[in-house]
Order: sequence, then structure tokens, then C-alpha cells
Amino acid sequence: MDTSFDMFIETEVPENELIISRTDLGGRITHANETFAKISGYEVDELVGKPHSIVRHPDMPKSVFKELWSTLKSGKSWQGYIKNRRKDNGYYWVHADISGVYKDGALVEYKALRSPVDRETKIKMQNHYDVLRKAEEKSSRVVLYLTDEQLEAVAKII
Ligand SMILES: Cc1cc2nc3c(=O)[nH]c(=O)nc-3n(C[C@H](O)[C@H](O)[C@H](O)COP(=O)(O)O)c2cc1C
Repeated sequence: MDTSFDMFIETEVPENELIISRTDLGGRITHANETFAKISGYEVDELVGKPHSIVRHPDMPKSVFKELWSTLKSGKSWQGYIKNRRKDNGYYWVHADISGVYKDGALVEYKALRSPVDRETKIKMQNHYDVLRKAEEKSSRVVLYLTDEQLEAVAKII
């Protein structure tokens, strides 16, 4: 199946609507508003109960989410640009503000508010993420280029 063409179809996030979601402490969606469903192409029911990575786009570097989670786990809120994948394989860009929800002083959930991104920033972030992703792909591919001797040496260590 060739979905590469669909991947280029962008959905614009409207200025006057907020995409809202909440997750449990493991990142599973506990609440999604209608705007989130509309922009992502899913039904609210299809989103609730799923890991938030349901809308993860392959263009997003791993390091962005690593930083997101370490920021949240240190008790701080995280702001950043995310390219998300729609159910139909199209995409949409958001600026996300993700933070903890506290009940009687205890962290119980996370919440995310998202707003639209201007064209210039989308281009800048796409380029930035392409560079990050390529660097990540390279570092994880190095192992394929080991010679037999090197591979043997590594096998001895692990
Ligand atoms: C409240 C909240 C909102 C999130 N929103 C998104 C999002 O819009 N898109 C996304 O790809 N990941 C989002 N994440 C991060 C995902 O949980 C996940 O870490 C990410 O999609 C990468 O997937 P992976 O951890 O399975 O590699 C969110 C996490 C939290 C806690």
C-alpha cells in the first residue's frame, strides 16, 4: 500500500479552537475533546483508552518525546512543536503545552493544550526535526557497519 502521497496532506488547526487531551501517568488518553477528534480524523471513542502515540508522526524524532517525558517526570511542564499524524495519514502541526494535573497535591494525570503554528515555524521545525531524526537514525545504524572482528569483540562484552 502506498500512503506516501497522503502523508503530504496537511490539516490546518483553526485559530479559534483548542485541541485538548488528558492522559494517565503512562500517556494513555483519558479525555479528548471534539476538536482533537476532528483535527486528528478519529472519533473521540477511538482516542480514549489509546496511548497518545496513536497520533505520532514518523517525522518526529525520538529525542523530542524523551525530553518531553523527562521534563514531565521532573515535575515541570513542557512546551514544544509537534507534527501529528491523522487517521487518514495526513498531518497537522501543533504547539503543545503539556503539564501535570494535581489532586490534593498528588500528580494524577497529564493535560495538553494545543494551538496553531504559523507557516514559517512549521518549515523551521520540519527542517530541525529532519536533522535530529537523521542523526538518530545514523547512531542506531552504526552497529550494522561493524566488521566481523568488531562484532565478535562486542559479543564478548555483552
Ligand atoms: C498529555 C500528553 C499529550 C501528548 N500529546 C502528544 C501528541 O500530540 N503527539 C504525540 O506524538 N505524542 C504526544 N505525547 C507523547 C506520547 O505519549 C508518546 O511519548 C509519543 O507519541 C512517542 O511515542 P513513544 O513514546 O511510543 O515512542 C503526549 C504525552 C502526554 C503526556
